[in-house]
Amino acid sequence: MFPDLNARMQTLLLNLIIASFVFLSSIKDGNAGITSSFIRSEWPSVDIPLDHEAFAVPKGHNAPQQVHITQGDYDGKAVIVSWVTPEEPGSSKVQYGTSENKNQFSAEGTVNSYTFYKYKSGYIHHCLIEGLEHNTKYYYRIGSGDSAREFWFETPPKVEPDTPYKFGIIGDLGQTFNSLSTLDHYMKSGAQTVLFVGDLSYADRYKYNDVGLRWDTWGRFVERSTAYQPWIWSIGNHEIDYMPYMGEVVPFKSFLHRYTTPYLASNSSSPLWYAIRRASAHIIVLSSYSPFVKYTPQWVWLAEELQRVDRKKTPWLIVLMHVPLYSSNEAHYMEGESMRAVFESWFIQYKVDVIFAGHVHAYERSYRFSNVNYNITSGNRYPVPDKAAPVYITVGDGGNQEGLAARFLEPQPEYSAFREASYGHSTLEIKNRTHAIYHWNRNDDGKKVPTDSFVLHNQYW
Ligand SMILES: *[C@@H]1O[C@H](CO)[C@@H](O)[C@H](O)[C@H]1NC(C)=O
Ligand SMILES: *[C@@H]1O[C@H](CO)[C@@H](O)[C@H](O)[C@H]1NC(C)=O
Ligand SMILES: *[C@@H]1O[C@H](CO)[C@@H](O)[C@H](O)[C@H]1NC(C)=O
Ligand SMILES: [Fe+2]
Repeated sequence: MFPDLNARMQTLLLNLIIASFVFLSSIKDGNAGITSSFIRSEWPSVDIPLDHEAFAVPKGHNAPQQVHITQGDYDGKAVIVSWVTPEEPGSSKVQYGTSENKNQFSAEGTVNSYTFYKYKSGYIHHCLIEGLEHNTKYYYRIGSGDSAREFWFETPPKVEPDTPYKFGIIGDLGQTFNSLSTLDHYMKSGAQTVLFVGDLSYADRYKYNDVGLRWDTWGRFVERSTAYQPWIWSIGNHEIDYMPYMGEVVPFKSFLHRYTTPYLASNSSSPLWYAIRRASAHIIVLSSYSPFVKYTPQWVWLAEELQRVDRKKTPWLIVLMHVPLYSSNEAHYMEGESMRAVFESWFIQYKVDVIFAGHVHAYERSYRFSNVNYNITSGNRYPVPDKAAPVYITVGDGGNQEGLAARFLEPQPEYSAFREASYGHSTLEIKNRTHAIYHWNRNDDGKKVPTDSFVLHNQYW
């Protein structure tokens, strides 16, 4: 309609783009980021079939299945054991002790079940075991008679500043053969606890009764790890399970029945956001899919929790969330902006060491950058190097059905240190109060390949 105006606008836009490109190039600090050129041979992103041995049902009448544990208190002297009995409620008792087959103690849990469309869940048990000794191996037994099953876990060392500890970080896992490869590799890493950054089963990719069934298969699939070491849960969009077409409108229904978190121990009002302390780390779990703006319960709680952080006791301050605040991938572009606008200044004020997220199905690590000077009236709009800022790491590459997010935006932004669209997992090995060693491991067609690594220096010490 107005070709003249249109052409002028285009010229203007072009000038603007060139201007900003020149500006960006001029602030390059020599730490140019890497976009990996690694080429994968594609594995199909299909879910493992229902009759596969990865989902095997344990033998025996009403045998406990989908066994998983998580930390049960603030400081690691309690564990919550959860499992499902398929045919009847059975017992919610956990027998446990410090030597095999000799369970001198027991604790009594609770049982519940739920429906999802016409699917009826099994009997879901949660049992809190308290008053454990630090740094101790415990054996535990659930179920009864011939169907009883025994597992073990190790409690973490006392909360102290120089305690070494190795965490694994997994996100967006799902239940494909890529997921299996990620989990197998993780289990060989020697890490002691999983920090899970959301999107567990991807059961919501199914319809009707298959949603519940795929939550069950996922529980059996991850049991090989979750029964023996705590997974610290944070939620993603695939936990929302909002499915009005089949009358299911209560968000997080499946997740909240099946998985528990020790949220009361950190005085949170919701299982979806909470904090724990483990060895030398203070870990804060946030919910990308619950209200977080000023005055909401999550905002009020985080303000209080950050004040409880004592870097003299726990030098390492780690935050987990699902949606990354810094990501240069086309997938889910800028979905984290709203939370960044609300919380980024606190993360800098409190010198958070590292923030792990998932959601984007690729790997990306940032330099220490911030955008807290962003001002909608004055024009500051570029993230700038900031020594007080956390490192942002996206590990949404567990291997789910949706495949990889292979398109990164060009040019690679200044804040982006390393990015690659491959499946894998990370580990964070805390050495002492000043040093931690971080690794990202790529799944290369069945092999585990250490790919990106660096020494994380503590922000406080
Ligand atoms: C939670 O609140 C209770 C009661 O105010 C307090 O005793 C407890 O120390 C608080 N927990 C934490 C982790 O601050
Ligand atoms: C934003 O910029 C305006 C000038 O345009 C300034 O008056 C204001 O103080 C700035 N706000 C902040 C929070 O820096
Ligand atoms: C902390 O660990 C790093 C890496 O292992 C080591 O170089 C450093 O000397 C250690 N510092 C102390 C105080 O032990
Ligand atoms: Fe997601």
